[in-house]
Amino acid sequence: MKNINQYIDQVFAPTDDILLHVLNSIKEKGMRSISVSPASGKLLTMLVAMKGATQVLEIGALGGFSGICLARGFGQEGHLTSLELEPAFAELAQRNVTLAGFDEQVTYITGPALDSLAKLKAEGKTYDFFFIDADKGNYKNYLNECIALASPGAIIVADNVLAGGSVAETTAVPKRYTAQMKEFNEYAAIHPHLESILVPVGDGMTVSQVKK
Ligand SMILES: C[S@@+](CC[C@H](N)C(=O)[O-])C[C@H]1O[C@@H](n2cnc3c(N)ncnc32)[C@H](O)[C@@H]1O
Repeated sequence: MKNINQYIDQVFAPTDDILLHVLNSIKEKGMRSISVSPASGKLLTMLVAMKGATQVLEIGALGGFSGICLARGFGQEGHLTSLELEPAFAELAQRNVTLAGFDEQVTYITGPALDSLAKLKAEGKTYDFFFIDADKGNYKNYLNECIALASPGAIIVADNVLAGGSVAETTAVPKRYTAQMKEFNEYAAIHPHLESILVPVGDGMTVSQVKK
């Protein structure tokens, strides 16, 4: 899996200077290096572009790596709302998206994402693309909240759904969130309002479309 991912990153998603800067800025701040993989970021860019999404919601910003990838998908015509627990992380992400040229097109909302999602719902907001990449214990809750905020045909992507491969391999050492990811995958796979598939790029991404 590691070799395959390295190969895909190398051939299809070499990291450019801006994304390299983001990764370094995360390390310099002593934050965990848990941004999406380069190929996962490229997939996000392509999915946003293919969907023609203009209203994008992200759950889990860290240093802005995935935020930049999402924004690159809509280019000049779109807006990213990114929910992040830690104000210091949102500040770094804001600086990095500014460097990438998306200053005017990204809004960070800090605090627990479930609270922010409830507020966005109360305000009547809708989105056509979602990216879930925060605390694994809330993935099912996040999926339900995203469906409630989704315009018909919206795309919902969730990261880390392979849990390092441990969801599939009985011999692999289970991770802290293996059981949660298995439950999430099975939930997404049979959800009556979704069409879903798991794409084994990076640490695995489910891609779901909200049925029209
Ligand atoms: C894996 S990192 C996100 C990486 C980012 N998506 C990227 O690829 O650039 C997970 C992020 O979720 C945030 N987080 C954790 N629990 C959260 C919560 N309850 N509400 C909002 N954000 C949360 C963490 O602070 C962390 O920045």
